[in-house]
Amino acid sequence: MKKILVTGATGQLGREIALQLTDRVGAHRVAALVRDPAKAQDLAGRGIEVRQGDYLDPAALARAFAGVDKLMFVSTSMFSDVNTQHRNVVEAANTAGVRHVHYTAIQHPERSAFAISQVSEMDRLTESALAESGMDVTVMRNTLYMDALPFLLGADTLSRGVYAPAGHARAALAARADLAEAAAIILSGSGHEGRSYTLGGSTAVSMADVAAILSGVAGKPLPYVDQARADYIAGHVRTGLPDFVAAFMSEWFEALRAGEFAGITGDLERILGRQPLTPAQFLPTLFTVQR
Ligand SMILES: NC(=O)c1ccc[n+]([C@@H]2O[C@H](COP(=O)([O-])OP(=O)(O)OC[C@H]3O[C@@H](n4cnc5c(N)ncnc54)[C@H](OP(=O)(O)O)[C@@H]3O)[C@@H](O)[C@H]2O)c1
Repeated sequence: MKKILVTGATGQLGREIALQLTDRVGAHRVAALVRDPAKAQDLAGRGIEVRQGDYLDPAALARAFAGVDKLMFVSTSMFSDVNTQHRNVVEAANTAGVRHVHYTAIQHPERSAFAISQVSEMDRLTESALAESGMDVTVMRNTLYMDALPFLLGADTLSRGVYAPAGHARAALAARADLAEAAAIILSGSGHEGRSYTLGGSTAVSMADVAAILSGVAGKPLPYVDQARADYIAGHVRTGLPDFVAAFMSEWFEALRAGEFAGITGDLERILGRQPLTPAQFLPTLFTVQR
């Protein structure tokens, strides 16, 4: 039987997609691509076939994609040769006879000229390689994960407040688990060929709204400070992060400021068949767990 293979399956999104997909179609139909099988013992324990491969190793990708009908291609980690990796995945999938590729991109309004370093170019090149490949393609344009906020805002958020170069724009943030569930629904369904979905929350919040929500967690009023980008970067470098990482983090808030995540499409709610988790529901849990 042809398999549905999920890449990035030792990552946070890919693992959740593989598990959710297994619940829907059975482990016998699911395979997982991982760089290090030792990190995938829980997936193997669920009966998922674990295949080893690295986006930088075309021969391993060719082996891993054999007998795969649908591919869930989870985009790679930054600060590496992302374009070569993604080109390798598309070429290997096409050569192996994969019928349908599902790709996780980042939400990006069609007419926007805003670009996040590495990410926007990677998505553009990958989507055009997929379009030229002749394989069926479904693109899931994911919003900024709410789950990323504790890291992006910093460990002292609940004591100090929300400091970010995000302006006063709103973002339709979503929980990563909801995005994974939507991916599993799409992968286990039909009729998604040639479709793009912009997957985000059904409500949009500003960072001032986030500060108000987190004030309830902190038990005191927390300010939102619309920081200059340089101040945000300097603050995170002082916590020990390399400056290129802090600069990259700042770009997600610059994207938010530019309205990149402001669009509410309803795609996520329609696919889930329910309201996605809202920031008011999810952020208190998220920030309490991180404490
Ligand atoms: N929407 C958002 O807010 C947002 C935020 C951050 C990232 N992203 C993007 O969404 C993707 C999934 O998010 P996530 O939270 O699951 O990230 P994650 O936990 O960092 O997972 C990334 C996955 O990519 C795999 N990977 C990295 N380099 C690879 C390579 N050369 N070959 C094969 N696999 C490789 C990693 O494998 P290992 O386990 O072996 O490292 C891991 O499984 C990220 O990779 C990134 O492109 C989106």
